[in-house]
Amino acid sequence: MEKKTAPLIEIKGLHKSYFNDELETPVLFDINLKIEKGEFVAIRGPSGSGKSTLMHILGFLDHHTSGSYLFEGQPVSRMDEDSLAKIRAQRVSFVFQAFNLLPRTSVLQNVQLPLLYHPTIAPSERRERAEKAIAAVGLTDRMYNLSNQLSGGQKQRVAIARALITEPDVIFADEPTGNLDSVSGAHVMEALEKLHTDGHTVILVTHDQRTADHARRTIEIYDGRIKSDTPNVKRPPL
Ligand SMILES: Nc1ncnc2c1ncn2[C@@H]1O[C@H](COP(=O)(O)OP(=O)(O)OP(=O)(O)O)[C@@H](O)[C@H]1O
Ligand SMILES: [Mg+2]
Repeated sequence: MEKKTAPLIEIKGLHKSYFNDELETPVLFDINLKIEKGEFVAIRGPSGSGKSTLMHILGFLDHHTSGSYLFEGQPVSRMDEDSLAKIRAQRVSFVFQAFNLLPRTSVLQNVQLPLLYHPTIAPSERRERAEKAIAAVGLTDRMYNLSNQLSGGQKQRVAIARALITEPDVIFADEPTGNLDSVSGAHVMEALEKLHTDGHTVILVTHDQRTADHARRTIEIYDGRIKSDTPNVKRPPL
């Protein structure tokens, strides 16, 4: 009999509150979801609805308050700091709205950054991996440019290449097109689509319906609760 593997991500009855001094701010309520390896999911909702909070929890940057989070069937709340640090370094990557590149540093060097302290990828592999990741986002001809010599859309594609270089299981992108004009935004979405078709799991956070439409499934959040979770049938042409 074939062994059924656990979903990549499984969240059950998850709640999240922020605590500042004595003040509790509840932000996420009874979140239930499963995400399988290789999915391209958009988390969409208005400002303040809890999207980034959920993404930070899914990406091991923050802890939930109650309920459960299983990553490949393993309860995250029982993982020690060492295991969490390992997961953060090797299994997940992030792309943020503000590209967070080092200025006056080449595209090639920016993309190699996550490998500097990587526990398993040898220094001799860095260059080849970087070139491959840069090619994947269509920036081979800009490899030796400094990051501050690039357009916004190109910078964000560098950030995607950097997220890609460790070959993570999940790439999280929080409003990756938020700072971009529509043409640059389209290039960035194309790069994310390509990651998905290449087999990566992509979790995209956005307030924007049109951006969310690029994903294969949309989880809509409103006031900290999942309002809908539906496959995307109508996707925009590339
Ligand atoms: N550190 C914190 N302490 C207290 N409350 C917080 C903290 N971080 C976020 N919040 C609150 O949690 C709620 C959800 O915030 P979150 O950043 O997840 O929203 P979002 O959906 O990502 O919004 P946006 O689209 O504006 O980025 C908001 O009401 C916010 O004020
Ligand atoms: Mg946010």
